[in-house]
Amino acid sequence: MTRTSPFHRPVTKAVLPAAGLGTRFLPATKATPKEMLPIVDKPAIQYVVEEAAAAGLGDMLVITGRNKRPLEDHFDRNFELEQALVSKGDRERLAKVQESNGLATLHYVRQGDPRGLGHAVLCAAPHVGDEPFAVLLGDDLIDPRDPLLTRMMDIQQREGGSVVALMEVEPSQIHLYGCAAVQSTAHPDVVRVTGLVEKPDPADAPSNYAVIGRYVLDPAVFDVLRETRPGRGGEIQLTDALERLATGEALGGPVHGVVFKGRRYDTGDRGDYLRAIVQLACEREDLGPQFRAWLGRYAAETGLSALA
Ligand code: G1P
Repeated sequence: MTRTSPFHRPVTKAVLPAAGLGTRFLPATKATPKEMLPIVDKPAIQYVVEEAAAAGLGDMLVITGRNKRPLEDHFDRNFELEQALVSKGDRERLAKVQESNGLATLHYVRQGDPRGLGHAVLCAAPHVGDEPFAVLLGDDLIDPRDPLLTRMMDIQQREGGSVVALMEVEPSQIHLYGCAAVQSTAHPDVVRVTGLVEKPDPADAPSNYAVIGRYVLDPAVFDVLRETRPGRGGEIQLTDALERLATGEALGGPVHGVVFKGRRYDTGDRGDYLRAIVQLACEREDLGPQFRAWLGRYAAETGLSALA
């Protein structure tokens, strides 16, 4: 197959993998998708959809699985609820209900057999076609005041190939992430990725640069994913496919990394999820002042502030 270079084709589509079983949050996720758990008062997935929409990606494909109907309903209209709020004259809540309807055109495809992140991304191939595209993982929330995706899209447009988001972490934490071997470039926030390894033991990690859940990928990655065998955890790993792009073994490179130093909230497990809610609630203009005051009192009363 001859492939025209996707080099200067703009990125217009976002892929949002959301097929995980959410077992770390059972029993909450028995009948509710993990992506619908609220972070303060908004489902986690809405933050991600808002981020992609703010970056100009109006076409989104959500990779779903069983039990994901509430997710589709959330981004659809709810006439009954809207009608009830209209007749009460409650414009503020009406606006909140309608907020999620017009953000983007959302498409859905089921992963069927959940065989890992690489497999989830591969499910997007027919929808994405032959254009570079973004992938946003719902466990990482990026503060809208610290834009990351737009910077990654700029680099992809300038350099071609694929771009990952990186963050420096404590070496002891690197086993929780994909890890990148990097070389510096003329731009302090951009590195060239020369290798990638999924969740290495700290002793074997090539660096402390962790891959966080934002990617802008060359569509050639689909061909690589088709050939990628199960890796860590018996799953088809996106990191393993990107490693082949980074080393030049397969088309779709070079791979660059944008080093993110902004605010990121991890919602991946229960501890991270609780921290994300507290951090975001503190930052909120409407809830923040009262919540921070209470948190300060609570920390003092319980002796927690002395532990900090
Ligand atoms: C996935 C990726 C990993 C990446 C992480 C970012 O892992 O496989 O490379 O560092 O997302 O959040 P997961 O956290 O889904 O196990």
